[in-house]
Amino acid sequence: VDALLAAVTPRTRMLFLANPNNPTGTYLPAAEVERLQRGLRPDILFVLDSAYAEYVTAEDYSVGIDLVDASDNVVMVRTFSKMGIAGERVGWMYGPDHVVDAVNRIRGPFNVSLSGQAAAAAAARDVEFTARLREHNARWRSWLTRRWRRTPSGCRRARATSSWRCSRMRRPRRRRSPPCARPASWCAKCTAMAYPKACASRSGSKSTCARWSKF
Ligand SMILES: Cc1ncc(COP(=O)(O)O)c(C=O)c1O
Repeated sequence: VDALLAAVTPRTRMLFLANPNNPTGTYLPAAEVERLQRGLRPDILFVLDSAYAEYVTAEDYSVGIDLVDASDNVVMVRTFSKMGIAGERVGWMYGPDHVVDAVNRIRGPFNVSLSGQAAAAAAARDVEFTARLREHNARWRSWLTRRWRRTPSGCRRARATSSWRCSRMRRPRRRRSPPCARPASWCAKCTAMAYPKACASRSGSKSTCARWSKF
């Protein structure tokens, strides 16, 4: 939070926070997000990307609805992907009227198909299915995190809050050494975020988790 606030300049118009983050799997507790918002000028739009909210089980986490309600410069953006309909490409936003109005004016016309809207409405109603997804994710997240910690090739402190976990490798990565030889984009993502010695993975189906655990 301090680093983000220190990076704000008189030219800053927007602050974007992915909470939890992709791919590090780290998150800021509600109190820290509030502190961040309090430290911003009111003319800076604070965009809270809570895409992974459905998977978070930490008790000190908040999706940000209260913060939106209590201020004029906060919006929360979400996705239906984590409710099981990633292929429909539907997201949503909750924010003050003046921001919603501005976004409405610039969004592409017909940007969400009718089938996407119907699927999203059904997914929102099917709370039982979303709860099952959360349970599945929490189960395999712990399993994979434990495996990562035990692995000899080395993940020091694998941590995970959403479906992502990211960890430093004990040994420097060799060019073709797994898991970096596998779907390499996850490692590339860490490099892009200035964590060159880190590797990230996310939990998914049982077989995906089993594949990720073997390195
Ligand atoms: C942090 C973050 N925000 C937003 C999204 C958007 O999700 P989607 O494009 O599946 O709606 C993702 C994707 O998983 C994400 O990781």
